[in-house]
Amino acid sequence: MDKKYLIVGNWKMNGTPSQSSVLIEELVQRVNGGHFSEKLSLAICPPFTSLERAASLLKNSPIALGAQNLYCEPEGAFTGEISPPMLRDLGVGYVIIGHSERRSIFQESNGLIHRKIKAAQEHRLTPILCVGETLAERESGQAESVIGGQIRSALEGIGDRNLVIAYEPVWAIGTGKTATPEMAQEIHAFIRNLLEQQFSKEGLAMHILYGGSMKPNNAAELLRQPDINGGLIGGASLVAGDFMAIGQAVE
Ligand code: PGA
Repeated sequence: MDKKYLIVGNWKMNGTPSQSSVLIEELVQRVNGGHFSEKLSLAICPPFTSLERAASLLKNSPIALGAQNLYCEPEGAFTGEISPPMLRDLGVGYVIIGHSERRSIFQESNGLIHRKIKAAQEHRLTPILCVGETLAERESGQAESVIGGQIRSALEGIGDRNLVIAYEPVWAIGTGKTATPEMAQEIHAFIRNLLEQQFSKEGLAMHILYGGSMKPNNAAELLRQPDINGGLIGGASLVAGDFMAIGQAVE
């Protein structure tokens, strides 16, 4: 099977709309001027407040647009929340769900994450479900049971394969520490197996991204692993040259 790749920039809470415009213009320039593998898709997830400008600047470019979160109801009395139809209307295609910062800082539970996955799919947004273990969980040999639990509860009863998984070891996010390619591959193979059990043969073709301090200098080696289909990039996605260099690491 021909392996496909997806590189997604997670900008987190960085960039006013004006700052975002500058970065997006540079990304568009670089993507137009550079050479990229045909197997590669690119997406960026700016903050909500930059999405409208991003959508207009990315028109006619190969870079897709994603959001960093959503709420699981289509409308109503949910002060401060953003619904799937609001994102669709802006031209958003992907949505990150269950990032470890949302789980730990905003107490998002596996149950809520499950509802968000369903809501995204119902509105034809592609969820990027984030899973990963903490350092203490890894050191006590629980990485697979934690990740397995996160995936099983998020995907319970879900048959729609419009879905991307991102494995992000919590101890590697924003720390400069990366899982070795072998460590990452081991978890990706474990996730692949769960997807195959749930989605049968179609699970073999689903994107499983690695996230956690992926940079231009370690991307190629990670992306070469058989079950790594791309990356969810935080810090390095805020520097246009670095983000595009990661894209160019796809052979
Ligand atoms: P990082 O973040 O690349 O800065 O480690 C990744 C993420 O949190 O998605």
